[in-house]
Amino acid sequence: MMPLRRLQNEHFDERAPTWTARYQTNRSFRARLGVVGGAVDAALADTRSARVLDYGGGTGIFSALCAQRAALVVCADRSMAMLTSGAINQEATSAILAEAGFGGAPGRVLRVAGDERWLASLSAQFDLVLAIAVLEYVEDCPGLLLSFARLLAPGGRVLLTVPNPDSVLRWTQRLTASVAPQQPSRWRRLADQSFVRMQSHGSQVPWREAAAYARLEVDRVDRVPLGQTGACQFVRPNLLVSLRIRASV
Ligand SMILES: C[S@@+](CC[C@H](N)C(=O)[O-])C[C@H]1O[C@@H](n2cnc3c(N)ncnc32)[C@H](O)[C@@H]1O
Repeated sequence: MMPLRRLQNEHFDERAPTWTARYQTNRSFRARLGVVGGAVDAALADTRSARVLDYGGGTGIFSALCAQRAALVVCADRSMAMLTSGAINQEATSAILAEAGFGGAPGRVLRVAGDERWLASLSAQFDLVLAIAVLEYVEDCPGLLLSFARLLAPGGRVLLTVPNPDSVLRWTQRLTASVAPQQPSRWRRLADQSFVRMQSHGSQVPWREAAAYARLEVDRVDRVPLGQTGACQFVRPNLLVSLRIRASV
């Protein structure tokens, strides 16, 4: 079987050219932009001097949002295709952000091709670290959060999203995967999209254990809806988690 990492890279390389447009056309991407964008806005509200690392930032829509409000923004991703597509589509990204209610003068985003090895070699401090829809593709979640904790400036925070294992959508995905792993069916197509098969931990990302290991405390957890209107707003397949350095006693 092909190693998971290679499958993931092929998946994102293939989707890179259309990734930014999904934040306009796909209801769950739009919902993610609304909720995560609001949290980013709140995190950067009181300062113009923040330094932000958007890890697994992909085409960098959240980097672009941060760049409107922060002093330094680094978008790091191991997919060159995602980074390149983001660099090419900066105007489209600004337009999508404005349409979603996140207007502002565009700022600069530093795009870096790298993975956990690059992170480990980094010596810098960040006030905000983002990992949006990334942890589910990472094998060593404790190691990744430990790196984030090492890079956090005093008072800084990590904002990440992970699948919500308690959501009805995740239940359905697990059920259909175990009942008919190879059988394409209407149900399976509905619940199990191709990216699910290449997630290291499925919908059960060990983020709480990883945070405890990295001595990060959970500040807040919000459930992210599948869509902003209709029945989709009641299905909450993802969690938005805010973490801070644990205060020493
Ligand atoms: C689902 S996409 C999310 C992209 C972006 N954060 C967003 O919300 O639009 C996941 C991204 O994480 C990147 N990625 C996955 N594992 C990674 C790792 N170990 N190190 C760096 N990037 C990684 C992928 O290349 C991909 O661009």
